[in-house]
Amino acid sequence: MRIGILGSGLMGGKLGTIFARAGHDVVFSYSHSKAKLERLARDAGAPARSGTPAEAARDADALLLAVHWSRVDDVLKKAGDVSGKVIVSCSLPMNAEDTDLVIAHTSSGAEELAKKIPKAQVVSAFSTVPSEVLFSVFESAGGSARPSLVYCGKAKSAKKVAAQLISDAGFEPVDAGPLRVARYMEPLALLVAQLAYEGERGPALAYRFEWLDERG
Ligand SMILES: NC(=O)c1ccc[n+]([C@@H]2O[C@H](COP(=O)([O-])OP(=O)(O)OC[C@H]3O[C@@H](n4cnc5c(N)ncnc54)[C@H](OP(=O)(O)O)[C@@H]3O)[C@@H](O)[C@H]2O)c1
Repeated sequence: MRIGILGSGLMGGKLGTIFARAGHDVVFSYSHSKAKLERLARDAGAPARSGTPAEAARDADALLLAVHWSRVDDVLKKAGDVSGKVIVSCSLPMNAEDTDLVIAHTSSGAEELAKKIPKAQVVSAFSTVPSEVLFSVFESAGGSARPSLVYCGKAKSAKKVAAQLISDAGFEPVDAGPLRVARYMEPLALLVAQLAYEGERGPALAYRFEWLDERG
């Protein structure tokens, strides 16, 4: 697939690299540094390049949205017309301090995103995994026990694309249902972050909840 990365930071940089290494044609976009985008494309391997958000969006089969909530409008404006595109979003609706969700309970970032771009097909995925574990999951994907990763969305075809990308990244895709389920997934992502960064066992615990049992 041709995949545009909108936001090439911790999540976008790593997932874009993984998608390229899995054989997809990736365009990294949206960073303060053009040199960083070029370096990401170079390090990712042959089927990757850098570009503007509009270039990343133009021929994309799927776009990964991986920016802070405060940058969503800006990157979408720069991407241009995303009608008909699959938008896989890992962006959580966090406040400026990254301490709380600014949308929760009765809606979600993913649902509000879908309202902003009604002609696109939004799928929520990858928000429940810390970026630190992405490469190790990808590299051990041949092993027997793949960690599960939940996703949700409306359109069947878009969910199929997201499931493929989740699988290519080394996870077992778990369809959690329609996009409204994102209102439960996004608080789960905060629990994951709490366990990963404040808990004792580090980021890997975030997708290996069964390890909690080992404490007895
Ligand atoms: N990090 C995680 O483990 C994690 C896990 C789950 C979900 N998420 C969610 O995923 C989303 C992305 O998180 P992240 O940690 O990847 O964020 P990040 O590292 O800050 O990446 C954001 C990207 O947007 C770019 N950017 C920000 N402002 C810009 C501007 N004014 N002009 C151009 N580019 C700009 C940044 O540029 P630079 O390259 O110059 O920094 C960076 O490439 C967030 O919504 C977060 O809540 C993150």
